[in-house]
Amino acid sequence: MNHSAYRFLHSRWPSGILVLLFTFAFGASGMAGVWDEGDPANGEQLFNANCAYCHYINKEVLAAPGLGGIKDRWSASEELLVLWIQNPQKAAESGDPYIKSLVERYVPTYGWMAAQAVNEDEIKDIMAYVQNPPGGGAEQVADAGDACPTIDEMYPEESSNSATIWFLILLVLFIIIAASASNVKRSLTNAYRESEGKNPLAQKTYVESLREWAWNNIVFVSIIGLFVTAYIVVIAYQSAMGIGVYEGYQPEQPIKFWHSIHVCENEVDCQYCHSTVAKSKHASIPSANVCMNCHKGIKNGSRWGEKEIGKIYTAIGFDPATGQYIEDYEEQPIEWNKVHNLPDHVYFNHSQHVAVAGLECQNCHGDVAKYKEGRIAPVEEINALVDEYPTLIQLSKPTLTMGWCIECHNKAEVDLASSGYYEEVHNRLKDDIRGNEELRRYLEDEEVTVKDLGGWECSKCHY
Ligand code: HEC
Ligand code: HEC
Ligand code: HEC
Ligand code: HEC
Ligand code: HEC
Ligand code: HEC
Repeated sequence: MNHSAYRFLHSRWPSGILVLLFTFAFGASGMAGVWDEGDPANGEQLFNANCAYCHYINKEVLAAPGLGGIKDRWSASEELLVLWIQNPQKAAESGDPYIKSLVERYVPTYGWMAAQAVNEDEIKDIMAYVQNPPGGGAEQVADAGDACPTIDEMYPEESSNSATIWFLILLVLFIIIAASASNVKRSLTNAYRESEGKNPLAQKTYVESLREWAWNNIVFVSIIGLFVTAYIVVIAYQSAMGIGVYEGYQPEQPIKFWHSIHVCENEVDCQYCHSTVAKSKHASIPSANVCMNCHKGIKNGSRWGEKEIGKIYTAIGFDPATGQYIEDYEEQPIEWNKVHNLPDHVYFNHSQHVAVAGLECQNCHGDVAKYKEGRIAPVEEINALVDEYPTLIQLSKPTLTMGWCIECHNKAEVDLASSGYYEEVHNRLKDDIRGNEELRRYLEDEEVTVKDLGGWECSKCHY
C-alpha cells in the first residue's frame, strides 16, 4: 500500500477499522518507512509533548516500557504499530501474537496505553527519534535497580549495641562456667569424702554456692564489679548526651513507600509529592490522590505485588479489578508517622530555606533518593554528598539540634546583591552604618552570614 492511497483512505474512514481491514486483507505486507522516513528533530518534540509523560527511551519507567529498540522488538506489522499508537485496544483485537504478549505483559500492571492523537507522519517522526535519540537518550540507565542502591546498602546497619551484646554474652558464659566449676568441685569433694567414709556435704542452693564462691574470690569479684559500674555510668552518660539527637530515626510506616523507588528509579521530583515545600512553612505529605495519579495504572509492584499498593486502594476506595472508584466509600486516610518533629517552641519555615535561601533538600535531609521510608539523615551522611551538591554546607552538629541550625546560620552566606528580598535591608544597613565597625566589615567584604542578619536571635527560632 503506498502512502497517498493510505492517506486518501485514511481521511474518509475511521482509521482503526480501515487499518484492521487492510491488515487482514494483505497480511503484514506493510507500508514502507515507518521506521526510516521520519524527521527525528520533529519527532523529539512530538515525543516530549505526547509520549514522554509515560515513556522514556531506554528505561522502563513510570508507567510504560522504554521505546528504544522498538524496531527490533516490534514483530507485528507497521500498520499495527500505527494502529497501536492511535488505538491500542483496537490493535489488540487483531489477535497478533506480539501485541497479545505486549498486552499480557504490561496491561495488568500499567493499564492500557491511552490512544494517541498523532497521525502516521507524526508517528514516523517519533520512531525516527526514539531509534536514534541525540546523546543516546539522556536518561539512559542500564538497570535502574542497580543504579539505585538504598541507604541500608550504602551504610550497613552499625550494631552500636554490639559492645553491650558481647558484654552480656561474656557475663552469662562466665556465670555458667563459675557455677559448673563450683558444682564439679563439690562433686569431687563429695566423692572424696565418700571414699573416706564421711557424709557428703549438704546440698547447697545455687545462691548459697555463688555467695561462697564470691567470698573465696573476693579480689576478682571486686574488679568485675568495678567494670560493671563503670560500664553502666558510661552508657547512662552517653544516652543523656544523646537526648534531643534524632539522627537515623526511621519509624515504621503504614505502607512500604520507598523514596528510592520513586525518586531514584523513577525520577519523580520531590515537589511533585511535597508540593507546598517552596511555598509554605511545612512540606506537605502527599494525599492518596497524588499516589493514584500513577497507581491507578500501576497496580502490581515488582517487590510486593498487590500487597503494598493495595493499601492505597483501601485508603481511597478503589477497586483495582474494575479500575473504578467505589461509590460512597468512607475514605481511610493513610496515617504516616511523622519522622522530623521539632519541639513546639521552635519555628522552622521551609520556604525561607528552600525558596529564599535556595538550599537543596539534601543539605538537611541527606540522600533521600536512597531512602526507603523517611528518616533523619545523620550529619556525616549529609556531608558525604558534597561532591554531588557543590553548594552543600557541611556541618558537624547532629541534625535537627539547635547547634545544627545555629552552625549553619553561622556558615551560610546570604547573597545580598542578587536577592531582591534583601536589597532594601542592604541599603538601609549602608545608611545606618555609622560607627558600627562589625557591620561595615561585613558589608565591605560582602560576606554576610545568616547570623549577621539575626539568624542567631532566640526569637527568630523560638516562639
Ligand atoms: C498514558 C501513558 C502512555 C502514553 C501517553 C503513551 N503510551 Fe505508549 N504505552 C503505554 C503503556 C502502558 C504501554 C504498554 C502496553 C499497555 O499497557 O497498554 C505502551 C506501549 C507502547 C508501545 C509498545 C512498546 C513495546 O515494547 O512494544 C509503543 C510502540 C508505544 N507505547 C508508543 C507510544 C507513543 C509513540 C506515544 C506518544 C505518541 C505513546 N506510546 C504514549 C503508555 C503510554
Ligand atoms: C512519590 C511521592 C514522593 C516523592 C517524589 C518524594 N517524597 Fe518524600 N515522602 C513521601 C511520603 C508519602 C512520605 C511519608 C512517608 C515516609 O516518611 O516515608 C515522605 C516523607 C519524606 C520525609 C520525612 C517526612 C517526615 O515525616 O518528617 C522527607 C524529609 C522527605 N520525604 C523528603 C523528600 C525529598 C527531599 C524528596 C526528593 C528528593 C522526596 N521526599 C520525594 C512521598 C514522596
Ligand atoms: C509519578 C508516579 C508515582 C507516584 C505519584 C507514586 N508512585 Fe508509587 N510507584 C511508582 C512506580 C513507577 C513504582 C514501581 C512499580 C514497580 O515496582 O514496578 C512505584 C512503586 C510503589 C510501591 C512499591 C510496590 C512494589 O510492590 O514494588 C509502593 C508501595 C508505592 N509505589 C506506593 C506509593 C504511594 C503510597 C504513593 C503516594 C504517596 C505513590 N506510590 C506515588 C510511581 C508512582
Ligand atoms: C534548612 C534545612 C532544610 C531544608 C533545606 C529542607 N528541609 Fe525539610 N525539614 C527540615 C526540618 C528542620 C524539618 C522538621 C520541621 C518540623 O518538625 O517542624 C523538615 C521537615 C520536612 C518534612 C516533614 C513535614 C514538615 O514540614 O514537617 C518534609 C516532607 C520535608 N521536610 C521535605 C523537604 C523537601 C522536599 C525539601 C526540599 C525541597 C526540604 N524538606 C528542604 C529542614 C529542611
Ligand atoms: C543548611 C543550612 C541551614 C540550616 C541547617 C538551617 N538554616 Fe535557617 N537559614 C539558613 C539560611 C541560608 C537562611 C537565610 C535565608 C534568607 O536568605 O533569608 C536561614 C534563615 C532562617 C530564619 C530566618 C532568619 C531571619 O533573619 O529572618 C529562621 C527563623 C531559620 N533559618 C530557622 C532555622 C531553624 C529553626 C533551623 C533548625 C531546625 C535552621 N534554620 C536550620 C540556613 C540554614
Ligand atoms: C536557628 C534557630 C535557633 C536559634 C537562633 C535559637 N534556637 Fe534554641 N532551639 C532551636 C531548636 C531547633 C531547638 C530544639 C532542639 C532539639 O529538639 O534538640 C532548640 C532548643 C532550645 C532549648 C531546649 C528546649 C528543650 O526542648 O529542651 C532551649 C532552652 C533553647 N533552645 C534556648 C535558646 C536561646 C536562649 C536562644 C537565644 C540565645 C536560642 N535558643 C536560639 C533553634 C534555635
